[in-house]
Formats: sequence, structure tokens, C-alpha cells
Amino acid sequence: MTGRTFRAPGRVNLIGEHTDYNDGLVMPAAIDFATYVDVSARADRRLAVHSENYSETVEFDLDDPEPRARGHWSDYVLGVAKMLDANGADLRIRSDVPMGAGLSSSAALEVAVALALLRSDMDRTALAKLCQRAENEFVGVRCGIMDQFSACHARAGNALMLDCRTLEHRFVPLPAGVTLVIANTMVRHSLAAGEYNRRRAECEEGSAHFGRSLRDVTIAELEREGRGLSDLVYRRCRHVISENARVIAAAAALEGGDLLNFGELMYQSHRSLRDDFEVSCAELDTLVEIAAAVPGVVGSRMTGGGFGGCTISLVRDEHVDAFRAAAGRVSAVYVSGAAEGASEL
Ligand code: GLA
Repeated sequence: MTGRTFRAPGRVNLIGEHTDYNDGLVMPAAIDFATYVDVSARADRRLAVHSENYSETVEFDLDDPEPRARGHWSDYVLGVAKMLDANGADLRIRSDVPMGAGLSSSAALEVAVALALLRSDMDRTALAKLCQRAENEFVGVRCGIMDQFSACHARAGNALMLDCRTLEHRFVPLPAGVTLVIANTMVRHSLAAGEYNRRRAECEEGSAHFGRSLRDVTIAELEREGRGLSDLVYRRCRHVISENARVIAAAAALEGGDLLNFGELMYQSHRSLRDDFEVSCAELDTLVEIAAAVPGVVGSRMTGGGFGGCTISLVRDEHVDAFRAAAGRVSAVYVSGAAEGASEL
């Protein structure tokens, strides 16, 4: 098969969790794991998609007037193809992004497929939004923009500080001497997708109460005006509002070289996700506790949607082996640089 090959990376989120769909702030970095798509054009209106990971080929008729998601890996591909009004093509897909681990394997797939199927140049932000729409409207997960934006825009060696309301962003270099270490619990609790959409609904209830986005509510306002909220929605709001403040503080800490403070903000973020937002789980909490006990770990927290998946820890280079030994007893450990966003190979 002669053709072109595109790659899009997964991501970790250093801080700013469950804020993206609340007009908030996030700080992801792309990782050294990616999805690769080989593409060659076809003369007909069919899309043939082969997944090396699943050893499976599926074929679609692009003129099908009512394509439907069926809870299959290919939903992401078909969703993107529909949004792009793609031409017929043969796609061959392989990925080393751990799947269902909160490292954004879906966004990596969407973005790599979108680049492969594009008929003319599209700006990266429009591409990210199109992929998010495919996931929201076709696959049916009401995700925010963080994962697709990171896959499209990430820059090697940097974290991406993104305002999910305006999509303004800047890059924050990761300091020398520390390494991103991912620990995968290898568990994915089955409630993840349902609970994700439920958290969104709870945040919407909070923002309806205030008559504005949670991005525009301060902790003082929550305390003053939040009395009518149920305890549960109050805590969801408190997480989102405090998490946005933590992202701002974390970016300043990173830019000012204050790793100690950055790490403390990561731990605070984890506690807020565990206690107020309730998206952590025992396996993630254990990993964060293990991390906190290893000398040279700057900070640690769950990353991504939660209910299993991974923690991200910032570890001083000379202590990575000790961290690996400690966390490796209960998880799969991956060391990653901050990678470049999607590209053609
Ligand atoms: C998932 C979603 C993102 C974001 C995170 C939580 O990864 O795809 O949009 O909401 O969860 O921060």
C-alpha cells in the first residue's frame, strides 16, 4: 500500500482535571505514546479500516445516510470521517497508547484519522474541535476539548497551558532535572463513561444556580451564594473552582522554578478529585500514597477522567528508579518526555 502516514500522541494532564468542560484551565503534555494511521485513497465511497491492535478490519459505506455508533473502536474513525465528509480510503491503524487508561487514546485516534482523511489543509484548532464534535455527537461521550487540543498543538519539552473558553494557550517548559512518570493501575471501572457524563450534568446544575459558568465563580462567591445547592453539587463546584485556581498557581510555580509548590498543587488536586469530585478510586489513591513516600517525588495525582487509569508523578531524575521499584509493585510504570503534537511521518 503506498500512501501517507500520520501520528497523533496521547497525553497526560499535569493539573486542571474536569475543568475543560467548565470553560476552565488545563495543563496537559503530550506523551511518547501515539497512534499511527497509514492512508491510501480509494476510487469508491468506502472506508476500509484495519486495526493492528485488534487484528480486525471493518468497512463502511460513506454514503450510508444514517451511520450509527455501535460501541466499537471504529466508532471514533467513522465519527471523524462523517464530520469531515471524507472520501473513500483504506486506513491501517496501530497504537501504543495504552487504551482505556486515561491517556487519551481516543483523541489520539481521532486526530490521527482526521489528518489522514483531510481533503485540504485545516487549522489545528478547527481540527481539534472537529474531533471533539465527533466524540460528543457521534460516539456520545460529552468530553471537553483538552485531549484533542493537546494532540493537535502540544510542543515537545513543554506543558500546554490552555484556557478552554478562549482556546488561548501558552507553552510552559518542563524544567530540567525532573521526569514525567506515569503509573497505570491497569483498572478501568465500568462506571467511567456514565459517571463522566453525570459529573458534567452536576457541574451544569451548579453553573445554572449561579447563572454563569463555574469559571466565573470564586470560592468566596461559592461560600456566600452556594447555600441553595445540595451538598453534592456544592462539592463538585468547589472542586472545579479551586482546580482552576490551582492551574494558575501551578503555571506560575513552573515558570518561576518553584517545583515544591507545583508538586504540592498536584497533591491538592488529587485530594480535591478524590473527596469533592469523587472520580478517584482505591487503586489511584494507593499509587499517590506510594509516590508521596518516595524521596525525590515532587508531586503526584490521578490524571484524566478517573475511575481507574493512571497517575502522573513528577520525579527528580535520580529518583526515577526508586519510584519505579515502589510503584511497579502495583502498576505498570512508563517514563515519558513531553512530546510534540500530531505530525505526518
Ligand atoms: C477526559 C475527557 C477530557 C477531560 C478529562 C478530565 O479525558 O476526554 O475532555 O474532561 O477527562 O479532565
